[in-house]
Amino acid sequence: MIMERRISENGNYVFGGADTVELAKEYGTPLYVVSEEIIKKKCKEIRENFLFKYKDVKAAYASKAFLNLAICKIIEREGLYLDVVSEGELYTAICADYPMEKIFFHGNNKSRCELELAISKDVGRIVVDNLYELEMVNDIGRKMKKKPKILYRITPGVESETHKYVVTGQRDSKFGIPLEKDIIFKALKLGMEYENVEVLGFHFHVGSQIFDNTSHVMATHRVMDLIREAKDTLGFITRELNTGGGYGIFYTEGDREKPISYFTDAIVEKVIEKCKEFDLPLPTIIIEPGRWIIGEAGITLYTIGSIKEIPGIRTYASVDGGMPDNPRPALYGSKYQALIANKADRDADKVVTIAGKCCETGDILIWDLKVPELESGDILAVLNTGAYNYSMANNYNKIPRPAVVLVNEGYCEEIVEREKYEDLISRYRIPNHLK
Ligand SMILES: Cc1ncc(COP(=O)(O)O)c(C=O)c1O
Repeated sequence: MIMERRISENGNYVFGGADTVELAKEYGTPLYVVSEEIIKKKCKEIRENFLFKYKDVKAAYASKAFLNLAICKIIEREGLYLDVVSEGELYTAICADYPMEKIFFHGNNKSRCELELAISKDVGRIVVDNLYELEMVNDIGRKMKKKPKILYRITPGVESETHKYVVTGQRDSKFGIPLEKDIIFKALKLGMEYENVEVLGFHFHVGSQIFDNTSHVMATHRVMDLIREAKDTLGFITRELNTGGGYGIFYTEGDREKPISYFTDAIVEKVIEKCKEFDLPLPTIIIEPGRWIIGEAGITLYTIGSIKEIPGIRTYASVDGGMPDNPRPALYGSKYQALIANKADRDADKVVTIAGKCCETGDILIWDLKVPELESGDILAVLNTGAYNYSMANNYNKIPRPAVVLVNEGYCEEIVEREKYEDLISRYRIPNHLK
């Protein structure tokens, strides 16, 4: 979905009904701005084209993409489940009173402490990544007299066309239980024997920012073969199949975002086809997109500071943020589109490179961006920064994290306060001998 660009009468870029230049003035920059309307539109698309279309399906929001108390509330109202991957994410959901039975708890190295919290709170599903974790979950269940419901994360052994740091379904992966029979069936047999776990099925996640449904379909095919063999060999009936997320969104030219049904129809059709072929009961099918729900719902506003022209080479325009609030360009070479918010009605006939303020040559947000004539003080709006920006933000160079403002037509409110310098040093201690 490429959002149409709205411009105010005075030429300012309008996002979520709010004049972004006014937002920058009121809240300062850098500033994350999140549109509630876009999140709701995405959730509506999921409801209409997946949840209401098929029987016995569920959709979870992968909270690692962007999480705070307000987003938990929005996601809960939209009727989605929540995928968390750490005690910190679970704690956030607990503080937002998110229904614990609607949580999927992922992670390849959950600690005992994290599992104890999850099991004591009766989270809906624990997605067990390995045998070490299975033992721990069973042991904690026994001590707490509980029987947590679990899924096994499996490694389906498929490659996806995306950045190598975000492919997860290939055999050589830190995630999940390999499909080699002696490994997966050993895990399944143990899970079936243990008294304090209830094994419901399987989970896979093939990667992130994927535009082609082939890897999802191939992974579904492989897991359906596994489901049949599990029934034939161990009498295990799979009741749930969680197919992860990974659906790509538009960032820049060449990114061809697809409707949710492009992925979900193909997954569901493959499950139905294989269930018929193998005479298996249909499992509940779950999806868990993160980026697809939140990516386009966010933008980041910056103020342009120094503008340096190197004759015959390039012009650098530096902003008041950079890799601390958006590590993705430095980490993955991710590309973004942007515009000058206070000159949104002008022709973009110059080319500049947007540099961050960190003491790193690699802190470049956008190479060769087309802009109108630039001046220091102009406001840059980087688009589609909703996913994996705020959630990956850090304090490199002791730069405080920006605030997050939620906007909707005629409404705007801070949902995350800007960090202060006091916050940055609040946990530092001087040893006695240095006082
Ligand atoms: C298990 C799992 N589910 C869902 C997601 C969400 O991925 P995306 O934001 O690409 O949809 C991830 C991302 O890493 C994941 O690891």
